[in-house]
Amino acid sequence: MNVTVIGTGYVGLVTGACLADTGNNVFCLDLDQDKIRRLNAGEIPIFEPGLEAIVKRNHEAGRLQFSTDVAASVAHGELQLIAVGTPPDEDGSADLQHVLAAARAIGKHMKSYRVIATKSTVPVGTADKISQVLKDETKAEFAVVSNPEFLKEGAAVEDFMRPERIILGAEDARAIALLRQLYAPFQRNRERIIVMGVRSAELTKYAANAMLATRISFMNELANLSEALGADIEDVRRGIGSDSRIGTHFLYAGAGYGGSCFPKDVKALQRTAAEARRELRVVAAVEAVNETQRHVLAAKIKRRFGERLNGKCFAVWGLAFKANTDDMREASSRSLIADLVGSGARVRAYDPVAGHEARRLFGDSPGVEIVDSGFAALEGADALAIVTEWQEFRSPDFAAIKARLKTPAIFDGRNLYDPAVLRSLGIEYHPIGRKT
Ligand SMILES: NC(=O)c1ccc[n+]([C@@H]2O[C@H](COP(=O)([O-])OP(=O)(O)OC[C@H]3O[C@@H](n4cnc5c(N)ncnc54)[C@H](O)[C@@H]3O)[C@@H](O)[C@H]2O)c1
Repeated sequence: MNVTVIGTGYVGLVTGACLADTGNNVFCLDLDQDKIRRLNAGEIPIFEPGLEAIVKRNHEAGRLQFSTDVAASVAHGELQLIAVGTPPDEDGSADLQHVLAAARAIGKHMKSYRVIATKSTVPVGTADKISQVLKDETKAEFAVVSNPEFLKEGAAVEDFMRPERIILGAEDARAIALLRQLYAPFQRNRERIIVMGVRSAELTKYAANAMLATRISFMNELANLSEALGADIEDVRRGIGSDSRIGTHFLYAGAGYGGSCFPKDVKALQRTAAEARRELRVVAAVEAVNETQRHVLAAKIKRRFGERLNGKCFAVWGLAFKANTDDMREASSRSLIADLVGSGARVRAYDPVAGHEARRLFGDSPGVEIVDSGFAALEGADALAIVTEWQEFRSPDFAAIKARLKTPAIFDGRNLYDPAVLRSLGIEYHPIGRKT
């Protein structure tokens, strides 16, 4: 099948590559000329495990092309998948300018029937807006489908190849048939497609992210309570996670959620509710708890070293918002670093793959140095703070850490270590919600 994917970011590139890998002819469009140039030169602009090999293989086979040519992209696929960004607007609502611009471009150039499926996360009612934009531009027939994406950065290829569910918000039988054909290779052992109304599909994506964010904020609040009561959140987590109604996934306390999705989607869902004159009190609390939690590591550091941190230097391990990605959008590390530098400290930070992105973001910011190894970050530092749960941080050489730090103290935003082990090594340990 000929498929066009509009936007080659984390979602678009993975979608395009995986669809090409099952034999489709995929045309990936992006307006970012530099990104397209790099992709055509065999460079992968993002870090995503397993992606590079799939992109290379399919690009070389001629099934995956990258271009900035809008007219050619519209001509290519009966199916047009929109995967452009929907960043937060000033009032927290999703900014639809890229989605609607993509729809307008399709409308301007289409000459025959097209299915326009939105993989971007968009508020309820967006499909209607897309339809209106298309009607303004074309007399040709079309169908608009909501096909929200549920892949996780860091496991995006695996998630796309083996999806737990594929949501299709659609009424048009021809469009549903086309998408069933597209997704058939990804659900060979059981049916994963759930067809529903367009508005329900649009809301499902926000509901999923809000629910996941709720679990995190819930655990963070209980972690803070555990500290006050002398309980251990890790024991509590195991205790409640063993209940099959609750389950063990997404039940970890930490330094607050970040990333390109949860913060913006939790905000956008509240805006949608406000526009419908409804209040989402649980979701509002989830966001408020997270706002506080993003500062929890800095608060612990200040309790230990004092409010003013002038002359102090802290090593930070992990900058990406989670492991196995280079994405630093809304990463908790950014709040921590801003808090430390704002209190007069210097920061020496390391991330296994997000160093490049960190240098782009921090540039020459005074007080922040991005270094190329975990041990380089420790040199001359007063203490260590861990923000991302990278594999290489899970069992480090504690003696070497202790030898390099001025104060042997670890502030662990991911609860990676056993408090008893660190105590026996003479390292002060400050995890989240644990009994030390
Ligand atoms: N990143 C994730 O893990 C994830 C998961 C599920 C859903 N989503 C949703 O998917 C959407 C895309 O997210 P992302 O992280 O891939 O974004 P991204 O910022 O990585 O990529 C978006 C791409 O779209 C391009 N673009 C913008 N306007 C365009 C246009 N008119 N024509 C062609 N290209 C255009 C940009 O240049 C950019 O390369 C968002 O709505 C997001 O909420 C993201």
